[in-house]
Amino acid sequence: METPLTRSIAPEKAPPDLAQYEKAGGYAALRKALRMAPGDVTAAVKEANLRGRGGAGFPTAQKWSFVPMGDDAPHPKYFICNADEMEPGTFKDRLLLEGDPHQLIEGMIVSAYAVQADVGYIFLRWAYKLAAQRLEQAIAEAYHRGYLGRNIAGSSYSLELHLHVSAGRYMCGEETALLNALEGKRANPRAKPPYPQVSGLWGKPTVVNNVETLCCVPHIVNKGAAWFKNLSRSGDGGTKLYGVSGRVKKPGLWELPMGTPIREILEEHAGGMRNGYRFRGLLPGGASTDFMIADHLDVAMDFDSMQAAGSRLGTGTMIILDDRTCPVGMLHNLEHFFAQESCGWCTPCWSGLSWVEQILKGLEDGKGEASDLERLQSHARLLSPGHTFCALAPGAAEPLQSGLKYFRDDFDRHIREKRCPWRS
Ligand SMILES: Cc1cc2nc3c(=O)[nH]c(=O)nc-3n(C[C@H](O)[C@H](O)[C@H](O)COP(=O)(O)O)c2cc1C
Ligand code: SF4
Repeated sequence: METPLTRSIAPEKAPPDLAQYEKAGGYAALRKALRMAPGDVTAAVKEANLRGRGGAGFPTAQKWSFVPMGDDAPHPKYFICNADEMEPGTFKDRLLLEGDPHQLIEGMIVSAYAVQADVGYIFLRWAYKLAAQRLEQAIAEAYHRGYLGRNIAGSSYSLELHLHVSAGRYMCGEETALLNALEGKRANPRAKPPYPQVSGLWGKPTVVNNVETLCCVPHIVNKGAAWFKNLSRSGDGGTKLYGVSGRVKKPGLWELPMGTPIREILEEHAGGMRNGYRFRGLLPGGASTDFMIADHLDVAMDFDSMQAAGSRLGTGTMIILDDRTCPVGMLHNLEHFFAQESCGWCTPCWSGLSWVEQILKGLEDGKGEASDLERLQSHARLLSPGHTFCALAPGAAEPLQSGLKYFRDDFDRHIREKRCPWRS
């Protein structure tokens, strides 16, 4: 099984420096891309069926194709790597950032070349201090070697790349809020249209892509679209970093073919549940995805299969719910996070999430009433897509509405017994 994204990454091992990265074939994709027309790089990524790994699964080449090209296109154009990674339970980009920073930098340069961007930013979560240190060093090495700056590797293409350490909010990961944050403004999302590809950072054409998405690009250019598609067990191309946290024997992160079934990840890679714990459910792609239960264990972890099963692939990093953890308490914890991270722009989110948090706390404290469940349902409806300005609120609604569906008995017990049954 091929693992192109993590081939040079091992726990406790320092990342490859520039010389080691080049020795392993690094920056060959950049040299190859610079000999191709920019549109041919985009065509290869399209043919490879690369879909964004930031959570929504938007086709990467299609996103790039909206950027104005040609002599009349406005400049500067910007290319941004979204490395904010604050989704609860998600730690996949961190591995790539810390473990192989040159892979990301090469992916950024090749991708920026495809849309003829002039300036790049890596927008990094503030808590990722080791990643910041390693990225700074790798960017300096790349400049020194002529892979960044003017006339990259003797070509006519030039790109400046900057590392920007975020002030640290979940909201900053939403791509238009990220643009406001980069401009030094409050991190509220922007109305779309216009889309960032047309009018993004400082009103100029801008692409925002996730770390894992960009790390796939050099491999597609090097080895071709057919090879990339064949890595996958589904229609979406490539491999995927899948994570598991919770009470399993071996929590962790693995690069596996896209479309690997949940059961295989959970049982073969994470070693199954820890002794004394039984599986009850999972949030498959971070906190802002719908719960799945035992009936779903054979679903393939790819974008379309997960959606057909009533959830989302999201970030592909699962959080497991076991039988010794209260689902109401788990939801209270998650909704507290979402309420705290709401940017305060629209009412169903800033006000609704605080209500949701309070109702869940009341249930946990033994103060629940029968009408609470209807109120929670009604908030879940108001938080759903179409009622708010960005996807934070619908993301917060997903575990809530699916939790109410799959763990209804647990909610009822809290109300009936006037206490949380898991608290002694
Ligand atoms: C509240 C919120 C937080 C987000 N956080 C991240 C993040 O940390 N990293 C990320 O890549 N995408 C995040 N996204 C998704 C981005 O808006 C965007 O879709 C993504 O960066 C696009 O990259 P991709 O096309 O490569 O997937 C977030 C979205 C929302 C609504
Ligand atoms: S949904 Fe929430 S986070 Fe998004 S704009 Fe509205 S208030 Fe802000």
